[in-house]
Amino acid sequence: MALRNIVAQGDIMLRRKAREVEHFDDRLWTLLDDMCETLRAQGGVGIAAPQVGIMKRIAIIDTDDGLIELVNPVIFAKKGSQYQLEGCLSLPGMWGYVERPFKVKIRARNRYGKPINIEGDDMLAVALCHEVDHLDGVLFTDIAAEMVDPDQVEEHKENRKISRRKSG
Ligand code: CO
Repeated sequence: MALRNIVAQGDIMLRRKAREVEHFDDRLWTLLDDMCETLRAQGGVGIAAPQVGIMKRIAIIDTDDGLIELVNPVIFAKKGSQYQLEGCLSLPGMWGYVERPFKVKIRARNRYGKPINIEGDDMLAVALCHEVDHLDGVLFTDIAAEMVDPDQVEEHKENRKISRRKSG
């Protein structure tokens, strides 16, 4: 495994539409393993292949329940809405509030090409939507309702933790 460089804001890679994966081979597995290592080294929740300069429809999300690997993901159902604070490994220091569905259902392939279905609500739904957007060249700053003042980011993160504790 190896760490990959993260593409930063301003790079055209973040703005292009990624292509479908056709070959579920060892090159794909190496990329997925590298993305996981890179994500964990950065302490992020999710990462999409364009963020490491690979224009393929691949994303991973690291949750408390384990790692979710998504190849060629498609959101096919959305329900409800939520308004959450988001950031992005490619946009260090930038945080904003984005409206997202509360629950999404995704059809994808796993690393071996087998069809899988993933359901996520709450913060997992946010992460799933955020990563699928990356595959279409969309950044959260494009759709954020409100960006947070850099001086107030810590306060907003703290409020998020408190409100999450309250909601159980
Ligand atoms: Co991102």
